[in-house]
Amino acid sequence: MICLAGYSLYKNYVDRSQKIEVLKDTSLEVESGSLVCITGKSGCGKSTLLHILGLLDDPDSGLVRINGGEVSSRHAKAHMIRNKDIGFVFQFHYLVDDLNATENVALPLLIGGQNKSAAFGRARELLRILDMESRALQYPNQLSGGEQQRLALARALANRPSIVLADEPTGNLDPQHSNEVWDLFQKLNGELGQTFVIVTHEPELAKRSHIAYELRDGILH
Ligand SMILES: Nc1ncnc2c1ncn2[C@@H]1O[C@H](COP(=O)(O)OP(=O)(O)O)[C@@H](O)[C@H]1O
Ligand SMILES: [Mg+2]
Repeated sequence: MICLAGYSLYKNYVDRSQKIEVLKDTSLEVESGSLVCITGKSGCGKSTLLHILGLLDDPDSGLVRINGGEVSSRHAKAHMIRNKDIGFVFQFHYLVDDLNATENVALPLLIGGQNKSAAFGRARELLRILDMESRALQYPNQLSGGEQQRLALARALANRPSIVLADEPTGNLDPQHSNEVWDLFQKLNGELGQTFVIVTHEPELAKRSHIAYELRDGILH
């Protein structure tokens, strides 16, 4: 089953009256259960593509389908689809500094309407899966970079999303912590069948995925 797709996506930006063509007829289909990697040079449009696929931005033209349905960021239910079907992991973790690890993971569940005991139960379960149990009561600034990204991943998984989109999730980590986070992506993909689309500019890491594309000249190769 194809859980995420973009068809004939075009996106231009205008910068100081100069037109920058970023996506030119870009298409992608992601099978449920796969681990897809997108590489490409800095500035080639990887974040732009991921933001469009995750309904954080709209293409100039083209179509995005999530679980078979056509969607856009202007869709009345876009915020619900983003919260329920898609998990995001960014290069900078965007954790809430004033909440501890468990509360950070529970937050999207509480926003989604779950009661406190269900939300905190799920948060504790995720911290266990991601080997972060011992950090449950720590605040983000008390965690290492690798732990912060593991926590961001736990938060992304909270609502059991169909797809996790990760934009250079290890871009700020040293090689050891970067490897640990990639081990986790592979474990979650292999053991739980979690679908991932991961953007990285490190081609070495892309070798760890099933399917790797390079975004070049606005097209996936
Ligand atoms: N809001 C914007 N306005 C103008 N240009 C932008 C904007 N966002 C991105 N760009 C340009 O679009 C190109 C692709 O950016 P981006 O998708 O962030 O690339 P990547 O993630 O591969 O580094 C770059 O040349 C960037 O400068
Ligand atoms: Mg980027």
